[in-house]
Amino acid sequence: MEYTTLGKTGLKVSVVGLGCGGPSRLGLRDNSNSEGHAIGIVRQAIDLGINFIDTAQSYETEGIVGKAIAGIPRDRVVISTKKTLPDARHKNPENEIKKGLAQSLKQLGTDCIDVYHLHGVEPKDYDFARDRLMPVMRRLREEGKIRFIGVTEGFVQDPSHQMLQQSLKENLWDVVMVGFNLLNPSARSTVFSTTRDKCVGVLNMFAVRRALSQPERLKTIVADLIRKGAVSPSAMNGKDPVDFMLRESSAQTLPEVAYRFCRHERGVDVVLTGTGNPEHLKANVESILKPALPEPVQQKLEATFGKLDHLTGN
Ligand SMILES: NC(=O)c1ccc[n+]([C@@H]2O[C@H](COP(=O)([O-])OP(=O)(O)OC[C@H]3O[C@@H](n4cnc5c(N)ncnc54)[C@H](OP(=O)(O)O)[C@@H]3O)[C@@H](O)[C@H]2O)c1
Repeated sequence: MEYTTLGKTGLKVSVVGLGCGGPSRLGLRDNSNSEGHAIGIVRQAIDLGINFIDTAQSYETEGIVGKAIAGIPRDRVVISTKKTLPDARHKNPENEIKKGLAQSLKQLGTDCIDVYHLHGVEPKDYDFARDRLMPVMRRLREEGKIRFIGVTEGFVQDPSHQMLQQSLKENLWDVVMVGFNLLNPSARSTVFSTTRDKCVGVLNMFAVRRALSQPERLKTIVADLIRKGAVSPSAMNGKDPVDFMLRESSAQTLPEVAYRFCRHERGVDVVLTGTGNPEHLKANVESILKPALPEPVQQKLEATFGKLDHLTGN
């Protein structure tokens, strides 16, 4: 495993982070997998050297992480979890944050969260999050219940990062979780230059998602982009975009291409990978640790998708 420093937090984190939500939820999205299987994925990740584990109250996997890390020295793992925003009309939203944190601490079996995020903040939520929720987040940090404050964007609703662009000007966050992948690399110009300048830690979500783990889905998306004129037909063979990506990068799989694209982006600290499949986890760690994609491939991807800021990779 390789390790890096997560921005101004100073935390030493693995460059691969285990995501316990997303389309997989440690395999629990598919009802045939057991809790024991999910705990096994977390333990496998730790055995592979991953120390950054991301979960959320809403994923209902905090208890699984808690069981998987019980007995492991607390400083061996960096725990990242999140609180969905209470309704802005709630009478006491501050108390909802406190209650959520208390529940997360209990589920995770710890007395302190390393990175506590406001979860899925959309542009419409931002003023409420800053004015009503941040004061309580800061108090919880002062009380030692959380070490660092993070935010995750609502990438599906906000694929051009409007919330992050606004909030990064106001220096609220120690860490941000950003949607970034080869089909929507817009964070490169709108987010990463600022996070680098301000030393804000960056977690990369949506590296693979569905479009970059399912070749047939990618073909449909590229064909659609060409039909709509968003991608030039001369840039890429719409019938087989995957062929070019694999052939010219000597990668074994489409997820490998997608992970290598993200890992070597200047400004990305941790690439999150979410899976319920032990073979996928092993392969993804290997992919993330491989060298950058060859320069001509990067240039072609940039020429083809570099200006897109509306796709999520779903
Ligand atoms: N706003 C937010 O806060 C937010 C939103 C989304 C995600 N996240 C975080 O980011 C983490 C990662 O989620 P993501 O949404 O970015 O998804 P992702 O990890 O990019 O993609 C996960 C999907 O890819 C599949 N997959 C993974 N490796 C594969 C491989 N080698 N071959 C084939 N398929 C593969 C998984 O299925 P298998 O189980 O079959 O491998 C799953 O369906 C989440 O767990 C969560 O922690 C946060």
